[in-house]
Amino acid sequence: MRRSWIHRRSLLVLLAIMVLLLALAAVLVALNLRGEDPLPDHDAAFESTPALVERGRYLALAGNCAGCHTTRGGAAYAGGLGIETPFGTVFASNLTPHPTAGIGSWSAAHFWRAMHNGRSKDGRLLYPAFPYPSFTQVTREDSDAIYAYLRSVPAADLANTPHRLRYPYSTQAALAVWRALSFEPGSFVADPAQPAEWNRGAYLVQGLGHCIACHGSRNMLGATEDKLGLSGGLIPNENWYAPSLASPREAGLAGWHRSEIVSLLKNGTTARASVMGPMADVVFRSTRHLSDADLQAMAAFLQKLPEQTAAASPAEAPAPAASRRDVGVMERGARIYDQQCAYCHGDSGQGAAGAYPPLAGNRAVQMTTTVNLIQIVRRGGFLPSTAGNPRPYGMPPFNHALDEDGIAAVLTYIRGSWGNDAAPVSRADVMRRP
Ligand code: HEC
Ligand code: HEC
Ligand code: HEC
Repeated sequence: MRRSWIHRRSLLVLLAIMVLLLALAAVLVALNLRGEDPLPDHDAAFESTPALVERGRYLALAGNCAGCHTTRGGAAYAGGLGIETPFGTVFASNLTPHPTAGIGSWSAAHFWRAMHNGRSKDGRLLYPAFPYPSFTQVTREDSDAIYAYLRSVPAADLANTPHRLRYPYSTQAALAVWRALSFEPGSFVADPAQPAEWNRGAYLVQGLGHCIACHGSRNMLGATEDKLGLSGGLIPNENWYAPSLASPREAGLAGWHRSEIVSLLKNGTTARASVMGPMADVVFRSTRHLSDADLQAMAAFLQKLPEQTAAASPAEAPAPAASRRDVGVMERGARIYDQQCAYCHGDSGQGAAGAYPPLAGNRAVQMTTTVNLIQIVRRGGFLPSTAGNPRPYGMPPFNHALDEDGIAAVLTYIRGSWGNDAAPVSRADVMRRP
């Protein structure tokens, strides 16, 4: 008697657990289908025009699609580039109209579903290394224009590379959980209280521009937080920090002249700042191709971002930076600077207009987070070549010329000279950034 009772009870518990799991799965599936329109039974013939293709070409540049979907030296949009994430490597897909290797068999509705809902033609959920959490704001018209353009590029017969992700991140179930918690399809909603120019800028920055993919702070799930945020963050798997675009102490633009912002995004350099690392790539592949009107609009939006202190900067430094600088380190830094840096950046860090950025008064030099400084001194850098700056000057890498102590000393020196007043850089800071 008793035994069969126990038996029945465990059966009931098992049944209850199964029902619960099924309910959970149903909720997950439902959350992942949010905002998804059913695909049309019959695809209306897609009408492309040369004007639509040209518009799509421009929008693809605004979205920097080629930046991820084209490998160095590879066929345009043929995919194959690996994007490193904390969970493994995700490979960008072939977007050319090849019927099997690319998206030649996709309808405009399939393409829209990928952009808007992050779902592939076969129903597979896509990884957010494809910045659809931003692209979801792109309009159907713009999605169709990009689709028309991609159908016009030469078909490339390059099969997609399977992703290399660690278990359980490799499963669709894990991705479904991530999406349920961190992704909701959305459309851009214009703010009627703002001028049309601001709204155009908001649409470009938050949608195709996907600036938040690097400039957003990230939560524990690796998702960027708060669409308006742009409050700065370390780029996953890269030793680069994308500064806050809303903090005056980092890369906030509220105090800049509008034309300086346009010049930075168009030419990669202005009298007070220049782009480096991943941002030089963004300018080279994307923003330098945009019209002045669109760059003005982006600038108008960026200038009115609600002010925020950067997520990564700790509260006010405990003691004035000057009192924490070691005289010996400063002397060593000054010697290195005079020998290795001054012939380009000037005896008092003043730079040379149009060639070498000033280091005196430069915000990038004085930011709390020092990873970018360590990177540029280690690896050197090139400004992007642009119409306004066709033959940019470069900075050589100092990885072999300077050891960790030397890099720390010269950075401490430039952060504490000519009116600059930022905390010293330690050997440990440099060691942490290989
Ligand atoms: C930051 C890198 C990055 C950028 C920028 C990017 N993509 Fe992708 N894209 C990816 C990756 C990685 C995948 C693969 C995702 C997956 O398979 O889960 C992908 C997948 C896709 C897919 C799905 C293809 C398929 O076979 O399922 C489409 C469509 C797509 N991207 C279109 C675009 C367009 C259009 C743009 C520009 C507006 C763009 N992407 C910009 C990284 C990027
Ligand atoms: C692939 C990552 C990435 C993307 C996408 C990106 N940025 Fe950046 N951005 C960076 C990094 C890293 C830096 C810091 C290096 C530097 O100062 O140039 C930076 C710096 C900047 C700066 C400060 C430049 C300076 O020296 O003061 C501005 C302004 C900026 N980005 C604007 C934008 C805008 C607008 C977008 C979207 C259209 C964008 N970024 C998209 C990575 C990115
Ligand atoms: C041959 C000329 C040259 C020398 C030597 C040189 N630099 Fe540079 N430096 C440049 C150029 C050009 C850039 C802009 C490159 C870029 O943005 O990618 C730059 C950028 C920088 C930046 C980033 C400034 C910004 O606004 O983004 C820092 C910091 C810097 N250099 C520090 C140094 C230090 C420290 C040394 C000596 C150890 C040094 N440089 C030596 C030419 C030089």
